Amino acid sequence: MVVWSPFRFNSGQQAANRFAMAPLTTDSSNQDGTVTDHELEFVRRRAASGFGLTVSSTAYVENDGRSWQGIGAAHRGHLASLQRLAEAMRAAGGLAILQIYDGGRIAKPELTGEQLRAPSAVASLRPGASTPRAMTADEIEKLIASFGQAASLARKAGFDGVEIHGANHYAIHQFFSPRANHRADKWGGTLAKRMNFPLAVAQAVRDALGPKLIAGFRVTPLEAEPGGYTLEDAKVLCNELARLDLDYISVSLDDYRNSRPVGETRVYDGPIERSPPPAAHPVTEFARVIAGRSAVMASGGIRTRKDAEGAIGMGADLVAVGRAVVVDPEWLAKVRSKSEASILAGLPKEKPEIAGALSIPPRMVDYLLSRPGWIPRL
Ligand SMILES: Cc1cc2nc3c(=O)[nH]c(=O)nc-3n(C[C@H](O)[C@H](O)[C@H](O)COP(=O)(O)O)c2cc1C
Repeated sequence: MVVWSPFRFNSGQQAANRFAMAPLTTDSSNQDGTVTDHELEFVRRRAASGFGLTVSSTAYVENDGRSWQGIGAAHRGHLASLQRLAEAMRAAGGLAILQIYDGGRIAKPELTGEQLRAPSAVASLRPGASTPRAMTADEIEKLIASFGQAASLARKAGFDGVEIHGANHYAIHQFFSPRANHRADKWGGTLAKRMNFPLAVAQAVRDALGPKLIAGFRVTPLEAEPGGYTLEDAKVLCNELARLDLDYISVSLDDYRNSRPVGETRVYDGPIERSPPPAAHPVTEFARVIAGRSAVMASGGIRTRKDAEGAIGMGADLVAVGRAVVVDPEWLAKVRSKSEASILAGLPKEKPEIAGALSIPPRMVDYLLSRPGWIPRL
């Protein structure tokens, strides 16, 4: 079966199977962005169930862009922490990928101590969001360099590659979005100019990694919010990313079956006005445009082997699994041994049980439970 077959990336690295552990922020790092033992245990246990590759929780590249109390890849002081993380992620033999991000207008000032900075002075749709200041051209160049430096740190720390977080309304997504990016210089305006930042980051990361490590890019395939970028826009971006010889494009969806993108307000409040979903399916469309030049990774709502096969049937090469492995750390081992009936269907009722039995850091338990409906409960 194709899901258990190995996959060779452009860089020559090989994943033992088509399953990736999705990036899962635990919000549980030390205040200085170093990894905690709880986080290491969270990822070590899950990676050990046999993922071909494991993508880390997202790491900030500049202090001013922190959206979470998560890991940092922002300076040499983070190197030892990143080494520990890479080691835990690779303990069972899978490939270890560091995801890197900047929060832009959805960073948290209470973490950064700074006013938000973003492509333009336009507030996010999240309730209570404050208006960021527009970044200067120098700050934009510096942020691109910071992504490159984070990739260098990942290489030194022993990761097999880096995934650029270009999805889910973080800074790279904001530069690509006509809703968030109103700039009139080379970083905004036309579709071509809105692609300049994502492409410059991808180039900086590829340069820092060299040709033999994996460079991936996670993208939200369209914006649901009116006036947002379309699937056609994102296909143009993917075509350009594939030209940069990226190893994979990861398509971030709430549910891979129904083309529903992750909305900007996501779990933060009720529904917002949404554009109708596209007739074409993002995974299939991306696979068509990319045409084998990079791999396509699908995610969203994968809970069974059949789901994974369904995504691969739509054109994906790999699938990333998130909530199913939060809830059941041994999810993949159970799928592999055809014991799907024993997969845990939701988080237990009692909080201590969640943290202890499932190796979920206590802070993460709190934020998972603070968003009703996000994660199934028993
Ligand atoms: C607790 C939690 C943390 C997440 N953290 C990240 C993250 O750091 N980076 C990212 O790209 N996506 C993140 N996501 C999104 C997941 O990677 C995944 O795309 C999403 O949950 C949909 O897939 P699923 O239905 O398999 O969970 C997170 C999701 C959850 C539930």
